[in-house]
Amino acid sequence: MGNDQNGGKPELVPTAHGNGRATRAKTKIERRREHRWTGARAVERRRPPPLGDIELGARHVDVWRIDLDAPQMGFTALHHLLSLDERERALRFHRALDRDRFIAARGSLRLLLSRYQGIPPAEIVFEYGENGKPHLPRRSSPLPLHFNLAHSGRLGLIAATRLGSVGVDLERVRPISDLGRLTRHLLTHRERCWFSGLPRIQRQRGFSNIWVRKEAYLKATGEGLSRSPATVEVSVPPERPVRVLEVRGAPDEARRWSLSPLDPAPGYVGAVAVKRTAEALVPSVRFHV
Ligand SMILES: CC(C)(COP(=O)(O)OP(=O)(O)OC[C@H]1O[C@@H](n2cnc3c(N)ncnc32)[C@H](O)[C@@H]1OP(=O)(O)O)[C@@H](O)C(=O)NCCC(=O)NCCS
Repeated sequence: MGNDQNGGKPELVPTAHGNGRATRAKTKIERRREHRWTGARAVERRRPPPLGDIELGARHVDVWRIDLDAPQMGFTALHHLLSLDERERALRFHRALDRDRFIAARGSLRLLLSRYQGIPPAEIVFEYGENGKPHLPRRSSPLPLHFNLAHSGRLGLIAATRLGSVGVDLERVRPISDLGRLTRHLLTHRERCWFSGLPRIQRQRGFSNIWVRKEAYLKATGEGLSRSPATVEVSVPPERPVRVLEVRGAPDEARRWSLSPLDPAPGYVGAVAVKRTAEALVPSVRFHV
């Protein structure tokens, strides 16, 4: 905590060369860095939402949009919800902006999960899959809650469902300098044909649209980019329904997934992929701003 919480006295920190007992006053720069989320930006705008207040129907997928630069509860409150390893991760960001956005995303994720699960946000425990996908402990509930998080720029998306594994992705549409190389490496032959038929002005958005569909699927399986995106083919706009068409080397895989496009905000594109249940229910996506 910075000086503001310390009755005006300078806060002492261990010295780098000390024997564990030696301390020094925090430097002005250290105080200013911390102040970003313990001081001025830390205004609590809202009380924490009640636990367990969101009902999630069996065929629903909820997608929540978060403004990572102005989260509803404020940065200090969200930082308090994080686990030790999450706080350490936050400290490893070089840019204060990235650190704040990480705190906002993880803190908001904890708050949301607490509303579905009825568990205090700070008590939520994450486990991690082989490629780093966070999930709740499998034993925690007979009808597990699946979730996934994505961020791009100042926007975050959180998807939650009880249907099955879920992956969400979003991209801010912006000029990409090496678009030609990316399409060669990341798109399938059919996707490339569609892409090269687009007017130049539509290409950034067109590429981003395909990319979020592929990545939503890859995040849903948990493989992420450990699998080449060029091995996954998705339907291209304006084809309907939007879906995974083919996963190379796995003939039955594509039909096991539902894919829905998202329109998260002006200048952004998104998609959410969910594992289909045995009854092949078409998930209903509820978008919360
Ligand atoms: C998952 C992955 C595709 C995310 O890419 P990204 O566009 O940078 O980030 P996004 O904003 O879409 O998603 C990040 C969030 O997805 C979640 N996530 C992390 N690993 C994941 C995985 N394997 N599958 C699904 N979700 C994952 C996390 O919640 C993460 O946010 P957090 O760490 O701040 O909590 C990428 O990090 C990846 O492929 N990781 C696994 C394999 C890997 O590390 N390969 C090395 C590069 S080849």
